Amino acid sequence: MAGPVLVFDSGVGGLSVVEALRRRLPEVALAYACDNAMLPYGVREDDWLVARILEVCEAAVAASGCCGLVVACNTASTLALEALRERLSVPVIGTVPAIKPAAGTSVSRHIGLLATSATVARPYTARLIEAFAGDCRVTRLAADPLVAEAERLVAGQAPDVDVLRRVLAPLAGLEDLDTLVLGCTHFPLLREALEAAVPHPVRLVDSGDAIARRTGQVIAAPQRRPAIERGWVTGPDPALARGLAGFGFGTTQPLVLP
Ligand code: DGL
Repeated sequence: MAGPVLVFDSGVGGLSVVEALRRRLPEVALAYACDNAMLPYGVREDDWLVARILEVCEAAVAASGCCGLVVACNTASTLALEALRERLSVPVIGTVPAIKPAAGTSVSRHIGLLATSATVARPYTARLIEAFAGDCRVTRLAADPLVAEAERLVAGQAPDVDVLRRVLAPLAGLEDLDTLVLGCTHFPLLREALEAAVPHPVRLVDSGDAIARRTGQVIAAPQRRPAIERGWVTGPDPALARGLAGFGFGTTQPLVLP
């Protein structure tokens, strides 16, 4: 029997992609895996991170018996997508910053990229910008502190508005910037709070729906959604388990690494 579609992230960010998958593919069984013991990925060294992502994804794919893997993490995808595809026997769908749709709709031709410090600096990101936003000015903003704020939100606490304002403060002098790419899957979880904290109105764009659409095209015969779906974590934590349960992953267990 076909397995679920496995969604992977360093932490709770992949849940923003889960929301998009539920909207587009409501009948499809999902499973969730996160490497919360090593969160945040955005400040880690590349070689270490590739090895870690391969190890965790391989273990999670085996544990879940999934029919496909959605790497719901820009930081992981912009670094390790090729290596994952080489290593795993299931289809792998990646997440990259929504530069193309942002450039497609920006009127002022000045867009922003809000992402982890790793993602804003990656050659992959530079290539995306060159390919799809060559005629735009692109302001890159490293926003690592927002990852912890999204984690707090899913654990049931309000995000700290001062942290959001501080991270977004560099946009204050950039009134012609009309579109902001949320290039980290944690950030759409903070959408409302971000909209309230940006110094001037901007259109927020993320990759969630595009990933869900791509998943529907790539995954052939996924399992139908059961009553209870499962999650795997590298660092068991009751608040995280409650947060995952709120997104349908009613059973959470530790992910055993080799
Ligand atoms: N959610 C991840 C992303 O999309 C990164 C968060 C982290 O730094 O671990 O980039």
